[in-house]
This record gives sequence, structure tokens and C-alpha cells, in this order.
Amino acid sequence: METLRIALLGAGTVGAGFVKLLDEQRSRFRAFGLEPALTGILVRDPHKPRPGWVPQGLLTTDVERVLGEADVVVELMGGTGKAGRLVLDALGEGLPVITANKALLAERWDELRPHATEGLLFYEASVMAGTPVVEPLSGALRGNRTLELHGILNGSTNYVIGRMEDSLGFAEALAEAQAKGFVEEDPFLDVGGIDAAHKLAVLARLAVDPDFSWEAVREHTRGIQDLSREQIFEAEAEGKRIRLVASLYPNGGRWKAAVRPVKLPADHPLARFGHARNALLYRGDAVGEVLISGGGAGSAVTASAVVGDLLRMLEGYPGHPPLPEAAPVPDYEPETFEEA
Ligand SMILES: NC(=O)c1ccc[n+]([C@@H]2O[C@H](COP(=O)([O-])OP(=O)(O)OC[C@H]3O[C@@H](n4cnc5c(N)ncnc54)[C@H](OP(=O)(O)O)[C@@H]3O)[C@@H](O)[C@H]2O)c1
Repeated sequence: METLRIALLGAGTVGAGFVKLLDEQRSRFRAFGLEPALTGILVRDPHKPRPGWVPQGLLTTDVERVLGEADVVVELMGGTGKAGRLVLDALGEGLPVITANKALLAERWDELRPHATEGLLFYEASVMAGTPVVEPLSGALRGNRTLELHGILNGSTNYVIGRMEDSLGFAEALAEAQAKGFVEEDPFLDVGGIDAAHKLAVLARLAVDPDFSWEAVREHTRGIQDLSREQIFEAEAEGKRIRLVASLYPNGGRWKAAVRPVKLPADHPLARFGHARNALLYRGDAVGEVLISGGGAGSAVTASAVVGDLLRMLEGYPGHPPLPEAAPVPDYEPETFEEA
């Protein structure tokens, strides 16, 4: 049995979930003749209380100790600064990296893209957590010309809107979501639509254009922070539901990416999903309509995709490749939505 040396960056919600699931799935690794072992776990504060299964002795602030002897890096710390430097250094040394960090992927793509093309970057967990969308868009759905896609990519905004449908005001609903741990440290990332926009940028590069810029997505991003209960009730009276929808579609001979609250007919496939559920509605010229839905956040749900990527790597698959070149923009009339 050889050792698979895993450098883990981060032991928060997802990192702790990863440590637990890795242990539970140990036999899967042994089937490859490998015993997984963490070289160390990089954190900000090694003395912070954590779940009992996170090995205290491995927690450190010493980057060199964690990364020095690794075979693979698992980045679950978040952010675009330090995480970006560590990930790019590892990739530069030819180490495979598995990450859930959509902000990093969205905003520092120019630097990451050559490594993704080389097959060193695995990022299923970055969009819709454990619900697979990155792998289908970089594999099975590539037999199509993408016509459009629309997704509910941020569970916390869905939760907030759902609670507003139950008569809470925006501030109350947000406070409740924060108390339940559904919202990022900086709530603007969620309610301002930025998190959904980060994920849409990742999907756009897989589905239609490897050069799709973050700015092009950011420019058309509007969150739910100005939504009122009255708007939600008015929509309900019209038989509609308001949801924060991230869309990629042909528009005037170009691809357009947009994130904004829209009114969906109550029987629309994306309107059914409440609370922290995520969903992606994909339309391709050959396959037609595909709907993928499931959990989009949480410790175990996200760790599931990280462990999946690790096993995929051991099976010899490369990381998730962006589309090799931009797809022609189809002459196609996309679904239209009424903005809320
Ligand atoms: N939470 C989810 O449901 C979810 C779903 C999909 C994707 N993601 C992505 O997964 C990543 C991790 O999310 P999370 O929710 O697990 O975050 P989190 O709970 O805030 O955990 C972040 C971890 O990284 C460590 N860390 C952060 N900055 C650091 C720094 N500068 N130096 C050293 N260590 C640092 C923290 O150390 P301390 O513990 O000492 O503070 C913590 O252990 C993010 O990219 C996020 O977008 C999260």
C-alpha cells in the first residue's frame, strides 16, 4: 500500500466535511493500492474549536509543512488572494489541485486556465456543491451545441425568498438564514448575486467560451437585496414565483450572462425548488432539455464532490477542461423572463 499525500487548505464547513468523508471512504482509495494521508491542514487559527474528527495535531499555519511533500492539493479555504497564490504555486509545480473555490475560478481564470487545459484542475464542488454539473458540462453534454442554460445556483437567496413568501421581511429572512449558517461571512456575496455570478462564469467557460470574462458576468448581476414582500405577494397573485436566476443565452449575436431576480410561472421547472436546493436547466441542440437539481451547499454535500474529484483523478481522468474554443452563437430564440 502506498501513501497518497493530501495537502488540505482549510478546515471550515467544507474542509471538516472532507476530512470526515475521506475517512469514511478509505476503502475506495485502498482499491487503488493507496492509503490517503493528510500532510497537514492549513488554517488561520489552529486553536479554534472544531469537530472532534478533525485531527488537532495536523492543524497548522505553516504553509511549507502542509505543501512540502504533497501529491495533491485540496483547496477549501476560499478567497482569491492567499488561496490563489497557493493554488497557482502548486499547479506551477505540476501538482493536481482540487478546489471548491468559485470566486477564485471566476476572478483569476486567466492564470488558472492553462492548468485547467492541462488537466490539473478539478472543480466539481465549485458549482452546486455535490450536485454534478461541472462534469456533465465538461463531458457528456459536450456532444451538443449549447443553446442556453438557466440556474438557481445560490441556495441562500432561495432560502431568503422562501421565507419572504412565508411573510418575513427581507432583513428578518436574511437574519434567520445567517443564524442557520446558510449565508457567507460577507452576506453581500450571496444576496448581491455575486456568488451566483461566480458560478455562472465557471459554467460559461465550460459550455460556450473558454475566454468568458468575469467582468462580462459581473456587469449584468443584480441581487435580491431590494426585493420587497409586496413584490413577492404581487408575483404570487399573478401565479408566479420570484427566484434569483443565473442565465447564459444568445443575445444579438453574442453570448450574454446575467444574474437577476425574475418572476417564474409557478409551474416553471426552476420554480419548484425552494430552500437551499439548487437546479440547472440546460438546453442543447441534440439532447434537448436537461434538468439537474440537488443540494447546493453544506459540509457533506460539498465534500462529496471533493472526494469524487479525488477518486476521478486516481482513475486517471484529467481535471475538468474548459471548452477548447468559443462555440458559435446559435441562431436561437432563448426563453425570456420577466425581471422582478
Ligand atoms: N460552505 C459551503 O456550503 C460551500 C459550498 C460550495 C463551495 N464552497 C466553497 O468552499 C470553500 C470553503 O468554504 P467553507 O464554507 O468551508 O469556508 P469556511 O467555513 O470559512 O472555512 C475556511 C477555512 O479556511 C481557513 N482559511 C481561510 N483563510 C485562510 C488564510 N488566509 N490562511 C489560512 N487558512 C485560512 C479557515 O481557517 P480557520 O478555521 O482557522 O478560520 C477555515 O478553516 C470556499 O471557496 C467556498 O466558496 C462552500
